[in-house]
Amino acid sequence: MALLSIRNVFKSYFLHGKRIDVLRGVSLDIEKGEMVSMIGASGAGKSTFLHVLGTLDMPAAGELFFEDRNVFAMNDAEIADFRNRTIGFVFQSHYLLPEFTALENVAMPALVQRRERAPSYAYARELLERVGLGARVDHRPGELSGGEAQRVALARALVLKPPVLLADEPTGNLDPVTGEGIHQLLREVNRDLGITCVVVTHNATLAESMPRRLRLNAGQVTEA
Ligand SMILES: Nc1ncnc2c1ncn2[C@@H]1O[C@H](COP(=O)(O)OP(=O)(O)OP(=O)(O)O)[C@@H](O)[C@H]1O
Ligand SMILES: [Mg+2]
Repeated sequence: MALLSIRNVFKSYFLHGKRIDVLRGVSLDIEKGEMVSMIGASGAGKSTFLHVLGTLDMPAAGELFFEDRNVFAMNDAEIADFRNRTIGFVFQSHYLLPEFTALENVAMPALVQRRERAPSYAYARELLERVGLGARVDHRPGELSGGEAQRVALARALVLKPPVLLADEPTGNLDPVTGEGIHQLLREVNRDLGITCVVVTHNATLAESMPRRLRLNAGQVTEA
């Protein structure tokens, strides 16, 4: 059984009386432990796809199965709980909270879940060390470089130990060296923590280095 199974997903946006059909019948299986890249032109619908896969957005039609669970058939509270337990998200913009330190930002999802404070902070610190920011834990986002902020966002996405990590252009605005560092981290996350990863990227070298490559084009997802 696939870990994630998307079946015939449709998603459109309606704006100013116009309809944009972004996902037009997407079906896809992702196995446990896979490391998958997704490429596609700007505006092709990669973020839309990732948001639907991560249950941040509902499709107009179609199904999502996590193992044998029919995710879109759940009620809102069940979906939110599923998302908290299952999905780590690195957004195209990092969305760190500006008034909190790096350490507090990383620990935040665990604290919101009312996990114990001391172990949550300890694990947040460990993750920050893992992404090379052990010396930056007390910096606020405005006191970090773009690449550092993106690494904090990656650590935050991992703090609840999700089985699935969805990363939307985690290296979008970074120089090649910093970008390669993030890619290396993603590979470690996949290999060492066994986390199933889907990474949207415009970086052709990164995309090609992944064991499985997907392309989003004309509302369809195909193997690239
Ligand atoms: N809330 C919205 N309302 C209306 N149209 C939207 C909305 N969000 C996205 N779109 C449109 O849907 C299409 C797909 O957007 P999406 O953000 O998924 O593209 P993308 O592949 O992630 O692009 P990029 O590589 O630039 O991040 C685009 O044409 C965009 O303009
Ligand atoms: Mg996008």
